[in-house]
Amino acid sequence: TGADDGGAPPAQRSVRVPPGVTVFDSASWNGIAIDSTCGGHGTCHKCKVRVEGPTPITRHDVKTFSREQLDNGWRLACLVQATRDLAVDVPPLTTRPKAATVGVGRQVILRPAVQKRYVELDEPTLADQRPDVDRLLAAIDDLEPAPDLHALRRLPKVLREADFKVTAVVVDEVLVDVEPGDTTDQRYAIAYDLGTTTVVATLLDLTLGTPIAVASVLNKQQPFGGDVITRISATMLDPEALPRLQRAAADTLAELASQVCGEGGVDPRQVYEVAIAGNATMTALVLGMDPEPLGVAPFVLATAQPPALLAAEVGLDLHPRAHVYFFPALGAYVGGDIVAGMLATGMDRDKRTRLMIDVGTNCEIVLSDGDRIVSTAAPAGPAFEGGAIRCGMRAADGAIETIRLDTPEGVVDLGVIGDVEPKGLCGSGLVDAVAELVKVGLLDGTGRFVPDEQAVDIAPKLADRLTKLGEERVFVLHRPWPDAGPEDCVVLSQRDVRELQFAKAAISTGWSLLLEELGLEARDVQQVLMAGSFGSYISPASAVRIGLVPKLPVLRIVSAGNVAGEGAKMALLSVRERAGAAALLEEVTYVELSDRADFNDRFVDQLGF
Ligand code: FES
Repeated sequence: TGADDGGAPPAQRSVRVPPGVTVFDSASWNGIAIDSTCGGHGTCHKCKVRVEGPTPITRHDVKTFSREQLDNGWRLACLVQATRDLAVDVPPLTTRPKAATVGVGRQVILRPAVQKRYVELDEPTLADQRPDVDRLLAAIDDLEPAPDLHALRRLPKVLREADFKVTAVVVDEVLVDVEPGDTTDQRYAIAYDLGTTTVVATLLDLTLGTPIAVASVLNKQQPFGGDVITRISATMLDPEALPRLQRAAADTLAELASQVCGEGGVDPRQVYEVAIAGNATMTALVLGMDPEPLGVAPFVLATAQPPALLAAEVGLDLHPRAHVYFFPALGAYVGGDIVAGMLATGMDRDKRTRLMIDVGTNCEIVLSDGDRIVSTAAPAGPAFEGGAIRCGMRAADGAIETIRLDTPEGVVDLGVIGDVEPKGLCGSGLVDAVAELVKVGLLDGTGRFVPDEQAVDIAPKLADRLTKLGEERVFVLHRPWPDAGPEDCVVLSQRDVRELQFAKAAISTGWSLLLEELGLEARDVQQVLMAGSFGSYISPASAVRIGLVPKLPVLRIVSAGNVAGEGAKMALLSVRERAGAAALLEEVTYVELSDRADFNDRFVDQLGF
């Protein structure tokens, strides 16, 4: 819950985050502001929240709170991990921040491209007949803006109606508007993560650097196909498909804009800027650019950096001069979303050797040794989204997301989204299912279910779950009623295991080649960041067990959340960070996997567990 200012009843929010993520990050990712000046590193002692139920006390908590406060559940939010359902009270912000915490512990000094200045101008006289705009520009000369026509059209009337007490609105050094009175506190922007499957929007208060509202919807391009290749193919088969895809993208962005503005109580006309982080295909489609060259070798972008344009040109009804910033792309399959992710994780700033894996249909991988950065894309296929999986489904209510097998007791412990009857298996559940079956020995190192006699020896109380559905062997994860046949159960099939093997082999081939590129061994990696809406939820232990990530201690594997969306927020909060995104284009070397002669051999080597 977050308490509002002015004695209003606290707003109640319920959010879902990967296990182990701190309360501080959970809040930040979900549009709930918590005080901080250290960026979640446990040193500023400002991120005070009250947690219900028994919560471990750290030495920093002891330094910050009285005994009574500790007994009442007060803790530092950046040191409390969400390892169970938690109820948390978040007090309102006490100070006006100069910096915001975004992404993976990144502190961003607030310097948005959108600036506002309130001025009280001298009224013109016969002795002072300076043009209106000169009068205004002289008062805001530190911003050195150039006026645009929209601002000039409004200027004479607004100045006179407001007795020459006005607020100048400057975006990217252009005077775009003049508003009556002092509106300096009303300065907003929207950050979009334009995903192939899901699109997320965050409404930001640019004055405080805090998120106000977050919303997500399925991309309205879904009817054209679930992944980028089917959408590109659609444009190749039907000349009408590109404008329709463009409209679907615009409708998705517009629906989210009205949702976050409605929820945040913000007039859309006070949203002056938008940042969009999307993969190369999503970016091409929202701009109405032909995506065909992205889908066929040699996989070429129309442009690495889309031009600046007005929000109205991507179908958004915000401030009429609101600008859109698109992240640049490194290649056809390492797009603006990953550049945004690199910004959010500070891949170019951290001296440690770090690996970022954004798991999805197309899996983007970035490796940095603190000096050089290499990246690649691996075609993981739809397994993680539940595609091509017998009981696969998206991470929605009814999806099994965690699985633990207890061999001696024969217990199959399922974590189900929404705590409802299990309906299917989402990406993280699939990884868990396979990892647990490998762990107990019911799946062998090649990914085959062991013969029935062997299963009885290994796990007598689980062996009866291994059965056949048609000709295929399956493991029953959930039986809806006692004598339900396998066709009515949620099962993991032999083919599902194969699909996962292909997906994880593509990904591990990708990172192993990047390691080789930098002359590193797997053990040199100090941190693995699991990013994206699938990657963030995968259990580190299971990811290690099946070889999706290098064999490392699980503490080195962390969930990074929606890094594309976090990067988009950073670009709106700071023009310096935006320049950092552009600089990444020079710093990162893109490694193409598909022209490696040894790709297939390596892929086959990575298939086993
Ligand atoms: Fe600074 Fe928690 S954010 S101590």
